[in-house]
Amino acid sequence: MVGAGISTPSGIPDFRSPGSGLYSNLQQYDIPYPEAIFELGFFFHNPKPFFTLAKELYPGHYRPNVTHYFLRLLHDKELLLRLYTQNIDGLERASGIPASKLVEAHGSFVSATCTVCRRSFPGEDIWADVMADKVPRCPICTGIVKPDIVFFGEQLPARFLLHTADFALADLLLILGTSLEVEPFASLSEEVQKSVPRLLINRDLVGPFALSPRRKDVVQLGDVVHGVERLVDLLGWTQELQDLIQQEHGKVQMLSSGAQSSSTSSVHCSLCIAGC
Ligand code: APR
Repeated sequence: MVGAGISTPSGIPDFRSPGSGLYSNLQQYDIPYPEAIFELGFFFHNPKPFFTLAKELYPGHYRPNVTHYFLRLLHDKELLLRLYTQNIDGLERASGIPASKLVEAHGSFVSATCTVCRRSFPGEDIWADVMADKVPRCPICTGIVKPDIVFFGEQLPARFLLHTADFALADLLLILGTSLEVEPFASLSEEVQKSVPRLLINRDLVGPFALSPRRKDVVQLGDVVHGVERLVDLLGWTQELQDLIQQEHGKVQMLSSGAQSSSTSSVHCSLCIAGC
C-alpha cells in the first residue's frame, strides 16, 4: 500500500505535509479549500485549477525513484502479490510494474471520460489541450473531458475490489509513504490476517500503527528512501537493485539524510549510480 510520500523523493509534493504538501500550496489556484481541487462540484464550477495541477502531474514530468524500483524488484522476484497505490503520478507503471499487478485506487491519467456523454478516451488524446492550458472538450458533445482521476465522492475503479481476495492471501503487508487518512483505501491496512506482519515505512506514525498497533507490526520512521535502503541492505539485494535501476536507465538520486550510519552510507553509495 503506497501513497504520495513515495513520490516526494521524485520531486512531487505530497498532499498533507505541513508547508510542502500540495494542500498547503494551493494559493495560486484560487480554490475555496484544498480538497475542492478534487471535488466534482467545484470542478464543474471551475475546472481550471484541476487542469493546472494535471499539467504539472502529467506522466513524463517526473521519474521513479529507488522506492518505486524496490517495488519493481519485488515484482521481478515474484514476491509482489499486488501494489495498491493512491498516487496518480503513474510512477509505478514507469518503473516497469505491469498494470496487472497494480491497483491505482484513485485513478490515473491513462484514460479520460467525457463528463456529459461518458465517452472514454485514451489519456494522450487530451494531453495537448492540458499542456496548452486548454480545458479538454469532447469532440462529440463538447462536454468537458476529465482524466479518470477519482474525485472525492466518486466510485473507485472496479479493480479496487481485488482487495477482497488479495489482502486475505497476503503474508506480508508493506505500507509506504501515506498518512492513511483517506477511506476506503486506509482501511485496507486492517484486512490482512492478524498473523501477518505489517511494515510501515513513513515519516510519521499513522493510522492503526499509532492508534491500535498489532503484535507483529514493524515501523521504520523517517525518510522512505532511507528506510527502503536499509531494508534492501538487510535483504542483500543492493546489487540487484542497482543493476535494475541501471537497466531502467534511471539515475536515482538517493535522498538519504546526511546523518547515516556507516553501513547505510555504504548502501547509499553503492546504490547512488551518479556517485555520492
Ligand atoms: N519519506 C517518508 N515519508 C514521507 C515522505 C518521505 N520522503 N514524504 C512524505 N511522507 C509522508 C508524510 O509524512 C505523510 O505521512 O507520507 C505521507 C503522505 O501523506 P499524504 O500527503 O496525506 O498523502 P496520501 O496518504 O497519499 O494521501 C491520500 O488523499 O487527498 C487525497 O487523493 C488524495 O491520494 C491522496 C489521498
